[in-house]
Amino acid sequence: MPMRIEDILNHKGHEGHKDNHTKAPVFLCALRDLCGLTPMRTAWTFHSAVSLVFGRDSVRQLGDIVNRLPAKKVLVVTDPILVKAGVADAAINPLKAAGVAVTDFDGGQAEAPLAAVKACENAARAAKLDAIVALGGGSNMDIAKMTAVLLTHGGTIQDYLGDDRIPGPILPVICIPTTAGTGSEVSGAAAFTDTDNKVKVGCLSNYLRPRVAVVDPLLTVSCPPKVTADSGIDALTRAIEAFTAVNNEDFPLPAGERSVYQGRNPMGDLCAERAIKLCGQFLPRAAKNGKDLEAREGMALAAMLAGLAFSNVGVALVHAMEYPVGGATGCSHGAGNGLLLPHVMRFHLPLRTAEFAKVAEWLGEDVSGLNENDAAERAVTAVEKLLVDIGIPRKLREFGVTAEQLPSFAEKAVAIKRILRVNPRPVTAADCEAIYRAAL
Ligand SMILES: NC(=O)c1ccc[n+]([C@@H]2O[C@H](COP(=O)([O-])OP(=O)(O)OC[C@H]3O[C@@H](n4cnc5c(N)ncnc54)[C@H](O)[C@@H]3O)[C@@H](O)[C@H]2O)c1
Ligand SMILES: [Zn+2]
Repeated sequence: MPMRIEDILNHKGHEGHKDNHTKAPVFLCALRDLCGLTPMRTAWTFHSAVSLVFGRDSVRQLGDIVNRLPAKKVLVVTDPILVKAGVADAAINPLKAAGVAVTDFDGGQAEAPLAAVKACENAARAAKLDAIVALGGGSNMDIAKMTAVLLTHGGTIQDYLGDDRIPGPILPVICIPTTAGTGSEVSGAAAFTDTDNKVKVGCLSNYLRPRVAVVDPLLTVSCPPKVTADSGIDALTRAIEAFTAVNNEDFPLPAGERSVYQGRNPMGDLCAERAIKLCGQFLPRAAKNGKDLEAREGMALAAMLAGLAFSNVGVALVHAMEYPVGGATGCSHGAGNGLLLPHVMRFHLPLRTAEFAKVAEWLGEDVSGLNENDAAERAVTAVEKLLVDIGIPRKLREFGVTAEQLPSFAEKAVAIKRILRVNPRPVTAADCEAIYRAAL
């Protein structure tokens, strides 16, 4: 019998509710019953940027948004490509028109090397700011976020790498993505390239969430096809990883440790589902014709939703395995993820068959009449087709990877515990090496 709202408000369980292992309030269990969900042992929370502003030309509101923070002096973090494409002016002009004092930092770089953060910090310290406006792909947004951390709390980047190590709120950051994308505009994550050690490093904290995300799909129109394809497949990877992650009630967080990631939960599922559908519908179109505004808008929404999903649920094995590859070869994060995605999906198929069957359907596959295993397999082939369609390399050799590198990549991947505890299946270095070999 379905639960009635009055029962929930009266905190009564319903007959047949056999939830004797849960310590969560009856209210929560009741709500979960109402939604047709299995009860959970633990509570989950959901974080975002404080405000989301989404739509064509929304960047024109930037002056007003900054004034209402309130902030009078801002650093705009951008890069030479965006300056040349005129995208930087799209953000700077409304700021100046609103009387905001703007200092430019156009030293952003793809894949955010640690040295770029240092340069940005120096520019920011000299400018005495109220806020930072980050304009760009994930790289510039992450540089801006870490700069805000350093300005507020001092120290070095190394002090904050890992999970939940930022001690408190940071200088307000407004993120304006120009790729679709990483979802950094809503996430509590920042990733950098440690060029000395040839590895990607990351920082997770809810204090890293931007104050405002201004998502204007028109700013992505100038993205070349490769950037569109790479950043778009990253959004899909993150949505699929979130939807097939370890469940929240099984999230294996050792006592005394904290994590921004929490495993799968209903809000994350909701965002991931919509993001996967949007990527299936719009990623090939956006990659083929950058002027297809409907596709650009669909992908901007997909990226933001995938950002909301992964930044609460977590990313998993694809990301852990991409970090050593990206660090060693300098391939783009998205291309590395896209290449590894079908291989890792295959590794997870036995444990997440029902979920992958849904993913297949959401990617536009006709799964009617198929049994669950065959439908799930279609998710893998749909992703493989998509990779071919949008021109993502299919072999690690195309990035210059050699067989000799694989054992060390595997060792590095399994060491990334903050990510791997989100994985639905335990994974060893031998497993990673086998997956790398299949992708070589
Ligand atoms: N913080 C997070 O939540 C998060 C999540 C996933 C990935 N990342 C990180 O984000 C980075 C990748 O970000 P990305 O995929 O957005 O790419 P990117 O920021 O590295 O940009 C790639 C290139 O595209 C150019 N570009 C960006 N927008 C453009 C536009 N509108 N027109 C023309 N050129 C444009 C940039 O100048 C750059 O040269 C990686 O370092 C990755 O690890 C961060
Ligand atoms: Zn990613």
